[in-house]
Parts: sequence; C-alpha cells; structure tokens
Amino acid sequence: MVQMPLRRDGSFLLLGRDPRVDGPPTPDAPVPDWIQADPRRIRRALERARSQNGGGWFVLGATRSLREKPQKFTVVGRDLVAWMGPDGPRVAPDACPHMGASLSCGGRVDADGHILCPWHGLPLGARKHGVWAPLLAHDDGVLTWVRLDAELAPGESPTASPILPPRPSNFLDAVIRVEARCAPEDVLANRLDPWHGAHFHPHSFGRLHVVGEDDDSITVRVIYRIGGRLGMEVDARFHCPDPRTIVMTIVGGEGVGSVVETHATPIDEGRTAVIEATLATSERLPSLSKAPAFVRDLVAQRAARLWGEDAEYCERTYALRKQRQDRRLLRVLDATEELDAE
Ligand code: FES
Ligand SMILES: [Fe+2]
Repeated sequence: MVQMPLRRDGSFLLLGRDPRVDGPPTPDAPVPDWIQADPRRIRRALERARSQNGGGWFVLGATRSLREKPQKFTVVGRDLVAWMGPDGPRVAPDACPHMGASLSCGGRVDADGHILCPWHGLPLGARKHGVWAPLLAHDDGVLTWVRLDAELAPGESPTASPILPPRPSNFLDAVIRVEARCAPEDVLANRLDPWHGAHFHPHSFGRLHVVGEDDDSITVRVIYRIGGRLGMEVDARFHCPDPRTIVMTIVGGEGVGSVVETHATPIDEGRTAVIEATLATSERLPSLSKAPAFVRDLVAQRAARLWGEDAEYCERTYALRKQRQDRRLLRVLDATEELDAE
C-alpha cells in the first residue's frame, strides 16, 4: 500500500509532496491571470519556439498502434502509410507505384516486413520501387516520427534523428491523437498560455501561479484536481524543444520527471493533428510501467477531455487570426483598386 502525505490548504486537500519544500516560494499577491496572459508575452514565447530547428521531423502517432496494422497519416498534404517492419517502423507514400492503390487501405504486412499492395500484391519494403521510395522514420520508443525533407521550414536543416526532450527512464505511457481546425502554432500558443488552465478546465485544475520564467521556459505551480477538493500540487515547467512540440515536465511535488509531450503535426492548411504522449513516473510506484492497460486508458481519457476543450481554444485563435488576415488582404486590394482608378 502506497502511503502519501495529506495536507489542507485553503479549500483544498492536497495529496503528496509539497513542491514548496524544495521549490521557489509561491507569489503572495499574484497579478490576475487575465493580465499575466499578455498576448504579446505569449507571442514572443511562440516566436522563440518557432525559430528552432525541428530537423524536418514530424510525429505521426504511437508506435504501439503500428503493431496492429498499417496506418494512414496525412502530413503537410502528403498521404503516407506507416507499418511495422522487422527493424522498426517504416513510412512511405500511401500510393502503390503500380496503379496507385492506397497501401493503408487493406495492405497487409508479410513475414519479411513488406507491405503487400491490396490490389495486385506488389511487395514494398525498405527499397525504392520506381517513383515510390520509403522515407526516413524514427521510433523514439513511444512515438513514430517521419522526416520530410521537402517540408523544411526556412532556417530548418535536416537532422539524423528528432530533437527529443529528456524523458524518465521508467514510465507509464499513454498517447492520444486529436485533430483540430488550426495551425501548429495555435497548439503551441495554447500551452504557452498556462493561465487559462484553472478558468477553462476547472474540472482538472485548481489554483495556478507562475513561479519561474526565463527566455526558454515558464514554470507554474498548479493543483491537479483528483476529484472534488482533493488534488495534488506540482511545479510544472513548459518548454519547446522544437518548433512543433511543447513539453511539460514535473519539476517539483509528486511525480518529478514525468513529462507530457504535445506534438503538433500539420495535416493540411488549417488542420493539425495533436499527438500528446504522457510519460508518468513515480518514485513511490517503481512498477508503474507495468500497470494494467486500464490505467493507461484512464490517463488517456483525462488528456482527451482536456484536448476536447483545448481544440476549441485553438480553433478560435486560428479563426480570429484568419479573419484579421482576410481583412488586411481586403484593405490591400481596396487600396490597389483605388490606385488603379487614379
Ligand atoms: S496497384 Fe498495387 S500492385 Fe497493382
Ligand atoms: Fe488547456
């Protein structure tokens, strides 16, 4: 039986280690959240994140899901198929080089790790076949990534493998995937605004204070609600290791070293896949990684609930930005017509 300290704090009953013991003090008179959530502050943090090199890598999804059957993914408008080969995940264009069949739609994987085209059985694997060529893939142990050299952003240069944030050595992982009508920058901006947490997700978060900030990260002290007034207070640091990822790391309280990686993969113009991996660790629960599947499902359900709401937030910021861009374009067109008429 795991024993955890319990303390009363205002209206909350807090379980587990107090992050104040080894961490920074909580501000006495915090500035209201709506003032702290300064759009210019969030924009500056976003610009710093987006100026980093992502090496051309994009997260596709949980590696675990590829073990079941080939999967289809669309990244920057390109349809891809991913499947599990003998030496790890393989990713390639989702169109057979013979007559164009979708490989993800009925393709089977043979004993040698080839994907067999569902129309006429052409085996395709690690080798190029005509115009069809596999892409560079990477399995980081939880997620599968693909490198798309044709999609490098200005200033981005290819790297041999994705830029991975530090992870705990022993963890329970849960991966969710949500799609939203927005751009990857909206996903990062959502997480760079921690101040919305207790207001927009009151079922999951209690009190929240910023307890540290520098050019590359922001650290908040936040109460995760377990249920009702019962919660757990932790210090969580947010940073962006690449232009399409934001990572939350628990740095104080219970579960130090646990991470939540939020990856934003562009599907197409105005559509983004959010792939979020929670890697939970605990000194008190050394066998957490062997927890039954339902524990992973519970973690995933909680993350999916938050993303159901955060997708709305991201879609709203994207729609507002588009409206502003459209209005600006209309003004430019009007000015051009006036000049032509003179
Ligand atoms: S379309 Fe794939 S083998 Fe013919
Ligand atoms: Fe949120």
